[in-house]
Amino acid sequence: MRIGVPREIKNHEHRVAMIPAGVGRLVADGHQVVVQAGAGMDSGFSDNDYITAGASVAESAKDAWDCDLVVKVKEPLASEYGFLRPNLVLFTFLHLAAVPELAWVLLKKQVCAIAYETVQLDDGRLPILARMSQVAGRVAAQLAVRFLQKENGTAFPGKGILAGGVAGSSPASVLILGAGNVGLNAADALAGLGANVVVLEASRSRVHSLKSSLHEHIDVVHFSDERLHSLLPDCDILIGAALVPGKHAPGLLKRDDVRKMPAGSVLIDVSIDQGGISETSRPTTYESPVYVEEGVIHCCLPNLPGSVPLTSTMVLTDASLPYIQLIANHGVDEAARLNAALSRGINIRDGKVLHQGVAESLGWKHQSVWSS
Ligand SMILES: NC(=O)c1ccc[n+]([C@@H]2O[C@H](COP(=O)([O-])OP(=O)(O)OC[C@H]3O[C@@H](n4cnc5c(N)ncnc54)[C@H](O)[C@@H]3O)[C@@H](O)[C@H]2O)c1
Repeated sequence: MRIGVPREIKNHEHRVAMIPAGVGRLVADGHQVVVQAGAGMDSGFSDNDYITAGASVAESAKDAWDCDLVVKVKEPLASEYGFLRPNLVLFTFLHLAAVPELAWVLLKKQVCAIAYETVQLDDGRLPILARMSQVAGRVAAQLAVRFLQKENGTAFPGKGILAGGVAGSSPASVLILGAGNVGLNAADALAGLGANVVVLEASRSRVHSLKSSLHEHIDVVHFSDERLHSLLPDCDILIGAALVPGKHAPGLLKRDDVRKMPAGSVLIDVSIDQGGISETSRPTTYESPVYVEEGVIHCCLPNLPGSVPLTSTMVLTDASLPYIQLIANHGVDEAARLNAALSRGINIRDGKVLHQGVAESLGWKHQSVWSS
């Protein structure tokens, strides 16, 4: 199979979908790998590293896209739609519930679109998304701490609180919605600094299973609107980290709720890639990472791990490579038959929506996946 690795073009996206060691494994299995020049540079890999591993390096994006299987990090942007064509197998983060326009293009062009974020094990875990969410939770914590500072000369001064406090002062109060990979990693990082953290989680069984294993500054409790509303007036940092796989993020915060938060507090909506948990959330970019609504500093970056590529490229490719090898070695149909987790990753195939959560969020008809 001919496998393409284009350079990422999303704003400040520094990751790459495959490291040279991955190329080596695929080449050893008899595949051809085409990497776009410069694709790995920000992750610490030169074109020569890829050539040494057995790839050919293409100058143009077109050559990297002109393959049977294309592996990427982020969803195709409008300038890449021209590369999409029938029977192309595309394996990447897609988050289609938040980008219906792209879903429509993939349907119309009859692409086989497999989303990293819905590759799902039988026990419900999301093995590729989970690794990036661990990174994103920690980056979110770092950004929240920074935006809470009052820095002269910036357009968006935070409340001016040291997240962990010192003797004689109170630490920041943190509220996290969703006790999954993002939520718990953000909680761990912020509690480690000394902040007081409350995590509201919808799943009772998850709340119970976590109760005894967390840092003393972290309290995980069952989500209710009453609890949420009672915590908002004292909340310095709020992190959106709720997910129902494939679906639009749950709308947990209305504008009136955001208004209850103190002026200068910080909302990092990590769930923005699935559309965001707040009525006031809209995607931001690294060029302009924050905006203020109702006195609250909002940061809604859809590619948080992209800012730490030396960490996240290794972690991402470690999780995705086994599935890439399955597709390359068996073809997509047989790979999906052999591996139920991968089959759940297929969002769109032959002009049909195959993932139920994605179909429901887009209001489109769902067709069942062959092996699940
Ligand atoms: N912005 C980024 O760069 C970035 C990076 C990685 C992940 N993400 C996103 O972060 C979000 C969380 O990902 P994750 O891997 O932590 O998911 P996860 O599945 O590990 O955890 C999500 C948690 O949210 C809980 N939940 C669902 N509905 C809820 C509700 N109504 N109220 C409270 N809790 C609720 C679930 O029970 C689960 O425990 C996803 O949207 C993911 O795509 C964003």
